[in-house]
Order: sequence, then structure tokens, then C-alpha cells
Amino acid sequence: MADVPGRFREVFFAVFEHLPRQGPGNRASAARALALCRDLPAAPEVLDLGCGVGAQTLHLAELTRGTIVAVDNHPPFIERLKRMAGAKGLSHRIRAVVGDMAALDLPPGSFDLIWSEGALYQIGIGHALAVCRPLLRAGGHLVFSEAVWRKETPPPEVKASFDLDYPAMGWTPDVVDAIQGGGFQLLGHFTLPDEAWWDDFYTPMRARVRELRPRYAHDEEALAALDQIAREPELHRAYSDYYAYEFFVTVHLKQAGWRRIMGTTEHEWTGLPQDRGRNREARGQAAMLACRRGPRHCNRGRSLR
Ligand SMILES: C[S@@+](CC[C@H](N)C(=O)[O-])C[C@H]1O[C@@H](n2cnc3c(N)ncnc32)[C@H](O)[C@@H]1O
Repeated sequence: MADVPGRFREVFFAVFEHLPRQGPGNRASAARALALCRDLPAAPEVLDLGCGVGAQTLHLAELTRGTIVAVDNHPPFIERLKRMAGAKGLSHRIRAVVGDMAALDLPPGSFDLIWSEGALYQIGIGHALAVCRPLLRAGGHLVFSEAVWRKETPPPEVKASFDLDYPAMGWTPDVVDAIQGGGFQLLGHFTLPDEAWWDDFYTPMRARVRELRPRYAHDEEALAALDQIAREPELHRAYSDYYAYEFFVTVHLKQAGWRRIMGTTEHEWTGLPQDRGRNREARGQAAMLACRRGPRHCNRGRSLR
């Protein structure tokens, strides 16, 4: 979060470290995405990137018999996931580690499934696909959720919010193009339902903001930060038809086939047009504020299921 003022960062984490999750999503959507994967082993080896406090990590542990390496670069999130996994008797199946998803020291071809809810955009989707591809076994799956536009000409406050948080955000077809150009085949995609925004995310966020107000009663800077955080659910309530959060389920193409189909080589792939030349550090973790966006169907997207 290099480009986020220190005080905002402090208040932001005072809110977010206490939420059940750090972006939209729910167990039903995770189960739906998982069901689109083909031929997963009975006990898959899973990598969960940008896991936050691990809401979806715990869902995956319930929904599969696999083992999960869960990575996040914010240590308090990882500490909380370790505690939760221990409390649920899942420590032997969940290894939660602090790390940068762009610089993972993991053996190639070691995962059947890479999962990431609302986090890959932090390093740019094109870059994320290039990071994930060698980590997957041939035929392995990459499943991720991603914020997308769904309506042209958003109101100025919506545009301003995304210009700040996620300026590279594209449309569903942009992400589909990136997937197909990045050596993956799309198996399906669907839009997160509205309850995936509210039940475990915006409703607890509003409650946490209310809870923190007395603590910061005489601290104008902190109260301004809380006000800014509190605006996000309200923005969503008013304008969620302008953006959505889409789950994408993909399968890793075998390298030879991919090269033949795409007629390109790995290093030629540069990702979404919006990602080109962007400075990852400049976007930084501040972009975490970005992806909590809108329900239902993208009116430009086409279902490929
Ligand atoms: C929007 S949150 C989503 C968290 C979680 N997947 C969920 O849906 O609740 C994005 C997460 O990515 C993490 N993150 C950001 N940049 C990262 C990086 N380079 N490496 C690992 N984690 C990162 C943040 O700390 C944050 O927990």
C-alpha cells in the first residue's frame, strides 16, 4: 500500500482485519466454480493466492479433500487463518504462508488447482496468468474472481472510485481474451450474486465501521478514513449495475498445444491491454480497495458455459 497515506492504512486494516472476508464471495459461489472444474483429483493440491483471512480457503477445505497452500502478503491475515484452521482441526490440510504472489518460491507443476478470489488483479491479470501457468500441472485449473465493468458511462463517483482503486479494470470479454491468450481454456464464468457482496463483506464492514467510531471519536483524520470506507457499500447499493464481480473457471492448456493454438511464446504475452506498462508497485495493495464490485450479469459478457 505504498500509495496509501499511513493513517488511512491503519484505519483500513482496523476494519478489514476484523471482517470474515476481504472481498465479495461466498461458499455457494465457490462450490459453483469448483463444480465447473473437470477431472480434479479426489484430494487436489490447491494454491490459494491473496487468501486474506482465508474465508475461501476454509470453504475449499470443506468442499474438497485436498491440501491447500494459502498465500497473502499481509501477515495479520495469515495469523488469523492459522488460528482458524487450528480451531477447525484443519492445520494438517491448510498451510498459510506470508508471501508475494508475484514472487512465489514453489516448485513448477505442483498444483492441481490455483484459486484466487479478488486478488489476481493486484499484480495484473496478464502477469498473474504467467505466474500461475508454470505452477499448475498439465490439465490443472486456475479459478479466480475479478471485478469487471458491466455498463458504459458510470456515474462520476463510481468512475472516480475505480480510477483510484483499479484503473485497469476491464470487461468480461477482456478477461476472457486474457485467459485464452495466456495459455488457458475458459470452462465457464458467472457473476457473483448480490448476497456474496453483503452477507460476509459489506454488512460486517458497516458494523465494524460503526463499532470503531467511538474509538476514533476525537480523531478527525481517522473518522474521515472511516467515512471513506463506509461510502463503498453505499456506492455499491446505488450503482452496482455498473460493475460486477465475475468468477472465471479455466484449465491449463498443455504447453505444446497452447503454443500451436495461440502461435505465440510465453514471453510475448503481456496481459490485458490496460496492464501494459503499469507499475505494479504503484498500484500496490491499495488496489485491494478495488474489487468489491457489482452483481448479476455483465451486459457485454457472453456466457461460454
Ligand atoms: C480483496 S482481498 C481478497 C481476500 C480474499 N481472497 C477474499 O476474497 O476475502 C485481496 C488480498 O490480496 C492480498 N494481496 C495483495 N497483493 C498481494 C501480493 N502481491 N501477494 C499476496 N497477496 C496479496 C491482500 O493482502 C488481500 O488479502
